[in-house]
Amino acid sequence: MLKAYLKYRKSRINAHGIHSPFVFELYNAVIKLAHRRNTDEVEVYRKELYQNDASIHFEDFGAGSKKGGGDVRTISSIAKKAGVKRKYGRLLAQLVNHYSINAALELGTSLGLGAHYLLSGNEKIKLVSLEGCMEVAQIAEKKLKEIGAKRVEVICGEFSELLQSNRFKDVKFDLIYVDGNHQMEPTLDYFEFALNHIHDESFIIFDDIHWSEEMEKAWSQICKDKRVHVSMDLFQFGIVCVRKGQRKQHFVLKY
Ligand SMILES: C[S@@+](CC[C@H](N)C(=O)[O-])C[C@H]1O[C@@H](n2cnc3c(N)ncnc32)[C@H](O)[C@@H]1O
Repeated sequence: MLKAYLKYRKSRINAHGIHSPFVFELYNAVIKLAHRRNTDEVEVYRKELYQNDASIHFEDFGAGSKKGGGDVRTISSIAKKAGVKRKYGRLLAQLVNHYSINAALELGTSLGLGAHYLLSGNEKIKLVSLEGCMEVAQIAEKKLKEIGAKRVEVICGEFSELLQSNRFKDVKFDLIYVDGNHQMEPTLDYFEFALNHIHDESFIIFDDIHWSEEMEKAWSQICKDKRVHVSMDLFQFGIVCVRKGQRKQHFVLKY
């Protein structure tokens, strides 16, 4: 990861090096302004989670699931380990606000921090968020329903089973945020699903693109895919868009 970070630092560019009007706008209106976004409401929720020492039964469906059966963890430890950090949460909020995202899908609700940023970034957003672990899903759902009962649906189940269900047949999203099960094959499967459920101006965001060798490989394959015309590496997040009319380009952007 350190090697990947050093490589990222060496290659990243800011607005001056961007020759694509679409990416130039995204850089100036989203990446540059995200840190100014007021997300106090989400930070209050984060603080509550960080101070919550209650234990729950956590069943890990993702990359750390090999031992199976799950274990007992405190809410605070789950929030600290799995919740999106403020810097990237603000980016989510700024993106959905600037591009007036209406329909969004999140893979991996955890305790609802990422979902909270998405909902608070744009009043019109309708979010569907998927989570395998029942106990965290219930905590997240309770909080997210307080923010916008009609704007959010938390569905509990295993990602690939849910994604294959009729629930998503013919549904298109403006944004798909993939933040769970950071392994190569599942990530590529979620990418295929995403390509079939987005339109030309949608965004797909992958979290933890440099987290492991597998994720590096998945991310590199996604960027090389002919169906992707714009890919952006922000180190933690990788953002891809189809944008068929555009020349295929990859950007490593300073954030
Ligand atoms: C990193 S956390 C999500 C954090 C959240 N998106 C946020 O921004 O705060 C990943 C979550 O995905 C869930 N998950 C991982 N793999 C899964 C799978 N195959 N099916 C269902 N849930 C899964 C885990 O249980 C975990 O809660």
